[in-house]
Amino acid sequence: MTPDYPLLARQLHALLDTRDWLTNSAQTCAFIMQEVGELNWVGFYLHRQPNILSLGPFQGKPACHPIPFDKGVCGTAARTEKSQRIDDVHAVADHIACDSASNAELVVPIMVKGHLWGVLDLDSPVRARFNDDDQSGIEALVKVFIDKTELPEIAPS
Ligand code: SME
Repeated sequence: MTPDYPLLARQLHALLDTRDWLTNSAQTCAFIMQEVGELNWVGFYLHRQPNILSLGPFQGKPACHPIPFDKGVCGTAARTEKSQRIDDVHAVADHIACDSASNAELVVPIMVKGHLWGVLDLDSPVRARFNDDDQSGIEALVKVFIDKTELPEIAPS
């Protein structure tokens, strides 16, 4: 069942009561893991070095680090600055398998003043787990995170 994303957005807005990016990113992935069903990993990858994503706060098993922009679903999201929604990650040639239990993936870029700050990555063991409503709902939660957080310019210019 699709969660009530407008309600989740209001709840996340209330939960993020600091402006601190580390606290808010940790809270955001814990909140999504708790409220959105059938996920096995939720986390941030940060754009701290040119064309490389570094693992940030997450919920789930230890994950791959670092991820270059030219690899994987996260790399594609970072390179294109567009959300990536994959029904079956095993059909994606350069998918990076951190956990063989993952089958579907949704990656949303986090853009600050036109620059890529990082990405939010969700994995699910359920094939085709994410539909249009999930994509727009998670994009709305990312917008709440951006609006409620002081995001330092960790991105290389
Ligand atoms: N599967 C991702 C790598 C990150 S993990 O899923 C946590 C990818 O292909 O970019």
